[in-house]
Parts: sequence; C-alpha cells; structure tokens
Amino acid sequence: MKLRTCVLSLAILAALAAPALAQTAPAPLRSPDVIFVPTPQEVVDAMLKLAKVSATDVVYDLGSGDGRIPITAARTYGARGVGIDIDPQRIKEATANLQASGQGDKVRFLNQDLFTTNISEATVVTLYLLPSLNLKVMPKLNAELKPGTRVVSHAFDMGDIKPQQTMNVNGRTIYLWTVPIK
Ligand SMILES: C[S@@+](CC[C@H](N)C(=O)[O-])C[C@H]1O[C@@H](n2cnc3c(N)ncnc32)[C@H](O)[C@@H]1O
Repeated sequence: MKLRTCVLSLAILAALAAPALAQTAPAPLRSPDVIFVPTPQEVVDAMLKLAKVSATDVVYDLGSGDGRIPITAARTYGARGVGIDIDPQRIKEATANLQASGQGDKVRFLNQDLFTTNISEATVVTLYLLPSLNLKVMPKLNAELKPGTRVVSHAFDMGDIKPQQTMNVNGRTIYLWTVPIK
C-alpha cells in the first residue's frame, strides 16, 4: 500500500472510531480525589442502621461508586437516595445497578464533584473517602446540612473531632456524627 493511501485509511478509521469511543465513557470532570473501592455490603447495612435510616430520610452518598449505599437505603428502608460521583464510569455502573434493583423511583445519581454539589436536602450523609477529605468536606457539611443530620463514615474519622458513636463491623470501623459537627 502506498504511504498516502495508508495515511488516508488510518484517518478514515480514526474518524469512524471517534464517536464510538466517545460513547463508552465521557472524560471525568477532573481526576477523582480517591479511587473507587466498594464498601462491603455488611458494612453498608451497618452504616444505615447506625444512622437509623427510615422511609422519611434522604440519604446522600458523597462519592457513590457503584451506588450500593443509596440503593440499599431505598430497598431496605424505603428512603430516598442520591449518589454523587465525579467519575462517569461509576455513574454508568450505579445507574445499571439501580435499574436492576427496581428502586429507580427513589434514587438518582449525579455525575458531579461532591465539593460543589448542593447537599442541603440530605438528612443522612455517608462517606468512604480519606481522612484528609473528611476534614476538607466537614465545613461544607456544617454549612449546608440541617442540624440533626446524621453523617456516617466508613473507615475514616475526622481527626480530633470526636464521633458520637463508633462500631466495629468485621474488623472495619464506622463513625457517626450529628450536625453540627464540632
Ligand atoms: C472509596 S470509593 C467509595 C464508594 C462508595 N461510597 C462505597 O462506599 O461503596 C470513593 C468514590 O468517590 C469518588 N470520588 C472521588 N473524588 C470525588 C469527588 N471530588 N466528587 C465526587 N466523587 C468523587 C470516586 O470516583 C469513588 O467512586
């Protein structure tokens, strides 16, 4: 094949492939602050129990991964759920899991940055981030959430800020605070 024909063929192939590639996963808003590691289901169950979730609650998971926390809150307690994740691939997985769960009327997923999304309607917030991110998000929790909103974190505390309650679940610690967190 002549060089010119070869270059032209490659250009045509690239042009044909571009829309297909764009459809598989749009680029993230920015790099995630922490990678996706799912909370084991028994720990999810314990977090929601520790927060005393009920059907009147709106459960926000900040960095929602595959969506298991809001979906479980809806399925087990009839709560409304919102999951926020910066990575579109996670939102895609969570949306597929939501469809399979049959809880689509109670849960939604937002492809947004947890630090810029308004979370004021939440009555329960769940976190599985990092110690530094817990401290970074704490002023936002106090500024936007109503007094009495429960905040549950898997694995990570908030430095010197004492939790109201802690629990060990199969070797993992979960922490509970109530807004205002101080
Ligand atoms: C450790 S995983 C926890 C997933 C889920 N909450 C769970 O407990 O199973 C952290 C998630 O946070 C997301 N994430 C990281 N930085 C974020 C940000 N700034 N805004 C929203 N999501 C973010 C990641 O994409 C990842 O899915």
